[in-house]
Amino acid sequence: MSASGQELIQALRQFLETERSFGITEIPCPSVKPAVFSSSKKEALLALEKEFKNCMLCALSGTRTRLVFGSGSPDAELMFVGEAPGYEEDLEGLPFVGAAGQLLTKIIQAMKLKREEVYIANCLKCRPPNNRGPLPTEIVTCKPILLRQIEIIQPKVVCALGKFAAQTLLQTETPISRLRGRFHEWNGLKVMPTFHPAYLLRNPADKKLVWEDAQQIMKELGI
Ligand code: URA
Repeated sequence: MSASGQELIQALRQFLETERSFGITEIPCPSVKPAVFSSSKKEALLALEKEFKNCMLCALSGTRTRLVFGSGSPDAELMFVGEAPGYEEDLEGLPFVGAAGQLLTKIIQAMKLKREEVYIANCLKCRPPNNRGPLPTEIVTCKPILLRQIEIIQPKVVCALGKFAAQTLLQTETPISRLRGRFHEWNGLKVMPTFHPAYLLRNPADKKLVWEDAQQIMKELGI
């Protein structure tokens, strides 16, 4: 097993041992429900958001200002998945509204789309303190919500922004630099991993690679 696989198991073990030391013997876990909807996609998303609005499944519930569920069109053919809310997102309750979000908006517009036409969500719905990276246990706990969002929206393409989104969805430890640039089949839909906009703010020379990935998505969607 790889080093990060062992780290994940170690982190999970520590988490469970801490829970047990507090007398907690059961971990509540959001279920991945089957795709049977009696309501529209919009209603299903609203119901899911309501279900987790006051989520306390992990410690981030204690430090968040607002849970950032996701935003955009429930009928989107293209869904973007980022890492986790940052400072501005936590305050506003909306994904990608800070500096990285402004760059994402420009990318979306360059793809001849409007932000309202796509759907944007994150792997984690709550901000990690000081914008640290998501912990393996946080990803495991929050992932079912993302899976249910994808299941409801049923986009044609998911664009995974950065290593956390790509590795979480594709269940791999392969670096983003090797995952990006081609579609990956996942649960019957196409996932295009690409660099995270926050990475692009630090490494603007790689914008051309993201544009190549975006153009493949446009072709796939017939834009
Ligand atoms: N970075 C993310 O991954 N998600 C956001 O919502 C904002 C910044």
